[in-house]
Amino acid sequence: MGKFYITTAIDYVNAVPHIGHALEKLQADVLARYHRSRGDETWFLTGTDEHGAKIARAAEAAEKKPEVFTNETSEKFAALKEVLNLSFDDFIRTTDEKRHFPGVELMWKKLVASGDIYKKKYRGLYCVGHEAFVTQKDLVDGKCADHEKEPEVVEEENYFFKLSKYSEEIGKRIRSGEFQIVPEGRKNEILSLIRSGLEDVSFSRPRKDLSWGIPVPRDPEHTIYVWADALTNYLSAIGYGRNEEYAKWWPADVQVVGKDILRFHAAIWPGMLLSARLPLPKTLFVHGFITADGRKMSKTIGNVVDPAALVEKYGTDAVRYYLLREIPSGEDGDYSEKKFKERYNTDLANGIGNFISRTYQLAHMFQAGSDEKIIEKDVQFKAEATAHLVDEKIQEFKLNEALEAIMDFIRFGDGYVNKTEPWKLPLSDASKVTWNLIFIAEKVSELLMPFLPGTADEIAKKVETMKNPTYADGKFGNPKIPPKPLFPRLL
Ligand code: MSP
Repeated sequence: MGKFYITTAIDYVNAVPHIGHALEKLQADVLARYHRSRGDETWFLTGTDEHGAKIARAAEAAEKKPEVFTNETSEKFAALKEVLNLSFDDFIRTTDEKRHFPGVELMWKKLVASGDIYKKKYRGLYCVGHEAFVTQKDLVDGKCADHEKEPEVVEEENYFFKLSKYSEEIGKRIRSGEFQIVPEGRKNEILSLIRSGLEDVSFSRPRKDLSWGIPVPRDPEHTIYVWADALTNYLSAIGYGRNEEYAKWWPADVQVVGKDILRFHAAIWPGMLLSARLPLPKTLFVHGFITADGRKMSKTIGNVVDPAALVEKYGTDAVRYYLLREIPSGEDGDYSEKKFKERYNTDLANGIGNFISRTYQLAHMFQAGSDEKIIEKDVQFKAEATAHLVDEKIQEFKLNEALEAIMDFIRFGDGYVNKTEPWKLPLSDASKVTWNLIFIAEKVSELLMPFLPGTADEIAKKVETMKNPTYADGKFGNPKIPPKPLFPRLL
């Protein structure tokens, strides 16, 4: 038992949430729930990133004041808590003057105190989509490859952060595993960038060009660079700049981010932390990207998938299951309605749902026949092996493989019913089989808990009923009426 501090990237509020944002928050949620269940004192932070040119322009396009616009969109991200049954403990907004600003100001002062902030005239190509300067080699036909827009030529006097000074130290910490980057491929990607030498980063924009942000302490003519502002959320939320509480949680045990922002989290952020003389996070877990029908989600194509709409149609746990099982953690994956329905019917309706309802019906028929609760050796063995494998997979951040192990256990349970055919056995033997099935159902409920908390609860309630039948004749309900399915089949 220890402490477990987990964070996600904070989402830009220029547009509403999509299933890519949902995927990341769900992955972090599984890890948080898992650690809580193991008795670790857990803190799960998420939030929204609300400053910078991208947001200021989105507000302008919506003809709203940035304050009003960001309030409205940020709420939609915060609402994912209910939509997806997320267990985050805190939600930080970078526009929060009381909680976030003091942390950013303190961070800035620490960088200055270390001699790592200097002023420089600069000419560069700025990609608003990235909220970062890009170089010619990032462009395809003169446009940013990710955002398909031409960067803007910016010539201004900025404050710079001496990231180059920390290049070697960051590389050392990553190579030694002190700062772990998962998966291995992402670690190698950042190490190769570091090998070519990290360059200093522009850390401010002139206020006259960008006023939507936090002013540079003692030089309000400049606005702190949106990434320097945003990255500091991981500290400001837990008290940095306001009190000493942050030392209880920092360093983060796991930071979950997408592959597109690896460089910010594995180079700039550790550089800032080293400069501010703070420990580096223990692990950075980098997930892949989710496409819709094989294409990047985009407003122009009109294929942006709204997690709230999916949940409305199929339910929270169905959406949690799809995103956590279909998308290999750490790699890219795809959403399509067809694949969603296939997964749902195979794994949820015919898999988990059917096994639980079979068990329930068999318990109806046979459970009262014997008090002998003998768990067979191979059932016990399979349960233990599954629990072990699930633990291992979660610790390796292979959440989809952990779910697959649970599904395999359910298939084992189905196989056990098919093999023993309890309906052909004398009542006392049928009852023994039933106890084994109830045991499997209970283990399934425990294992599913971090992934599908709602379903795990429902199964746990059914297990309670099966273990303690309340009807006078020792049975419960009417065996002729099958229980409501956990996951009705989709057509
Ligand atoms: N605001 C920055 C992060 C600042 S963290 C200090 C940002 N915001 S974002 O809204 O563009 O992305 C938020 C997170 O969602 C990132 O980790 C990003 O990788 C992830 N995703 C955005 N689109 C995604 C997919 N299509 N698929 C999976 N994750 C995606 O970057």
